[in-house]
Amino acid sequence: MDISITEKQEQFINSEAFETLFGGAAGGGKSYGQLVDALLYALKYPKSKQIIFRRTFPDLEKSLIRVSLEFYPRKVASYNTSKHIWNFKNGSIIDFGYIDSEKDVYQYQSAEYDVIRFDELTHFTEYMYTYMISRCRGANPYPKRVKSSTNPGGVGHSWVKERFIDIGEPNEIHEVTLENGKKTTVIFIPSFVQDNMFLLDNDPDYIDRLELLPEKERKALLYGDWDIFDGQFFTEFNRNIHVCTPFEIPKDWRIYRTRDYGLDMCACYWIAMDWQMNIYIYKELYESNLIVSEAAKRINDMTTEKITTDYAPIDLWNRNRDTGKSTADIFAENGQFLTKADNNRIQGWLAVHEWLKVFTDEQGQQTSKLHIFSNCKNLIRTLPAVQYDEKKPNDVAIEPHELTHAPDALRYFCTMWQSPMIKTLTMPKGTYTPTELEDLGYKSIVNVTTVKNKPVSTRRRR
Ligand SMILES: Nc1ncnc2c1ncn2[C@@H]1O[C@H](COP(=O)(O)OP(=O)(O)O)[C@@H](O)[C@H]1O
Ligand SMILES: [Mg+2]
Repeated sequence: MDISITEKQEQFINSEAFETLFGGAAGGGKSYGQLVDALLYALKYPKSKQIIFRRTFPDLEKSLIRVSLEFYPRKVASYNTSKHIWNFKNGSIIDFGYIDSEKDVYQYQSAEYDVIRFDELTHFTEYMYTYMISRCRGANPYPKRVKSSTNPGGVGHSWVKERFIDIGEPNEIHEVTLENGKKTTVIFIPSFVQDNMFLLDNDPDYIDRLELLPEKERKALLYGDWDIFDGQFFTEFNRNIHVCTPFEIPKDWRIYRTRDYGLDMCACYWIAMDWQMNIYIYKELYESNLIVSEAAKRINDMTTEKITTDYAPIDLWNRNRDTGKSTADIFAENGQFLTKADNNRIQGWLAVHEWLKVFTDEQGQQTSKLHIFSNCKNLIRTLPAVQYDEKKPNDVAIEPHELTHAPDALRYFCTMWQSPMIKTLTMPKGTYTPTELEDLGYKSIVNVTTVKNKPVSTRRRR
């Protein structure tokens, strides 16, 4: 039997993590990948037991069962229609199951499976998932796996995102300690329609049809974008564009630092700027319950580079009534001489939008001036999560408060260092009018940052 698979399907099949999520755009070949993987596993490990879940039986019947009937070879297996089981000649089985409501999980109380699979994982609740993965066990030496596939969206969107996407780089196995102290290994394999040549060859108009969907559905189904939900403030945020793999920062780039400090959270970011004025947010301190001197020490411990400017919110200059000292004073005593950042929130958020703006570069690639290293997990988690303030649509809601620290810290930088206009990249050379940049020794970037109506500058407002 010949089966061709996509590279992503191969990666999914070979995954060695305990928990794997194959997730993203619709049509990437996720469900098909599950079926091929299950077939190969059943053949490789005699008497192995697997189950594939969808939330409802009609969903199972229309998709997985129907497709498995199309290509599972009858020479090695037969399908039992009433029990929804593929029985293999080598004794392996593949069950099809569904979990309509949370109490349905108890019917699997005494079950044991080598591999448990969930298709459309975001249709399930976290409880259904965690309960069922406790059934992944057995006395044989076969690899135990929980393998899921899904599009973004659905009732389980948030917990799935937290468990698989927010943990760090995709395509890498992460060791994760769960809330109950248990350890697990987790990998997220993103899937895109473009990965699936089988679909694109047979149905070349598929992408055009997805383009017609309303924005939110389009983002989920066409781009497999996880950072979608109603009320999102930074809708332009796109993990595939704004998050990058860490690399060594060249020595001649300028380094800035920006922070939001409170006892509830100290969020501090190190930002490198290249000579085209692209910024790379490359290091993060995100810790609660640090008194000022401890925060200062932590920041110093994390800093070996020379900091050009160190931004902080104005309220750090408020004096303590008893000591007469301000938070900024204590940071200064620790060698951190802070620069007051403008506190106008609306303008600040506009500046962040400006930096995040997505544009097409000269090679036709979608990109942005702002990039975040994948290790800055809390910024990557909270930036797409903050919501609009219902009363002030140009402002970010201050609740849930925990989400605001990292975006606030970023805002202080962005408002002080306004983004160069993207158009400048393709403007003709030689129309430069001197600005204070020249005084700062920025001669070498003159050509790429020329602007007609809005000089690119460090708008320092004190
Ligand atoms: N390896 C493959 N060989 C042949 N057809 C495939 C393969 N992978 C996917 N397909 C086909 O591509 C289409 C989309 O795949 P599917 O697995 O349903 O995508 P997803 O679950 O990611 O939305 C389906 O018609 C499926 O049968
Ligand atoms: Mg599918």
